[in-house]
Amino acid sequence: MISQDIETVLLTEEQIEKRCVELAKQIEDDYNKEGEVPIVVGLLRGSVPFMAELIKRFTFPCEIDFMSVSSYDGTESIGDVKIDKDMDLSSKERAILLVEDIVDTGRTLSEVKKMFINKGATNVKIVALLDKPSRRVVDIHADYIGFEVPNEFVVGYGLDYNQKYRNLPYIGILKREIYE
Ligand code: IMP
Repeated sequence: MISQDIETVLLTEEQIEKRCVELAKQIEDDYNKEGEVPIVVGLLRGSVPFMAELIKRFTFPCEIDFMSVSSYDGTESIGDVKIDKDMDLSSKERAILLVEDIVDTGRTLSEVKKMFINKGATNVKIVALLDKPSRRVVDIHADYIGFEVPNEFVVGYGLDYNQKYRNLPYIGILKREIYE
């Protein structure tokens, strides 16, 4: 059972769902005001459960797409961000809502946001389920944040350790013995 590897449950499924309702409402109000049809772009693979939870609550028109970038290896983020799978839709002259699981050092989102601006996106917003501000090395502003988390390695609800634990329905701190 993968739940045996969890030290502490940080955020329950109920807490996450409740917060997603609030975030979706806030996002919806903003896009309704702007009148744009954004492309909601999920960064694979960590954003999938969070993105599913959010988009089913949007009542405004939007398109969805995914891209995959690699930014970290094991528990440490590395500087080099490369695109492993680009999105299929064109971002030129489009509003983009980037969906990410966690903002850690901030390097991934900073690079991806720059890339969208270079490709001619009119507006790039960021929604992240988690924020670990203590680890930030790049000054990046996420427009919408679900929860702030302490400087611990967390898994579940899309977040992995070596590709495992993404399917846990909650977010928990991984036992140190698993990765040390
Ligand atoms: P950043 O570029 O350092 O902000 O890295 C963001 C990426 O690092 C996220 O998309 C995650 O894939 C990964 N990451 C950072 N912290 C954690 C964590 O606590 N658990 C699982 N993945 C993490």
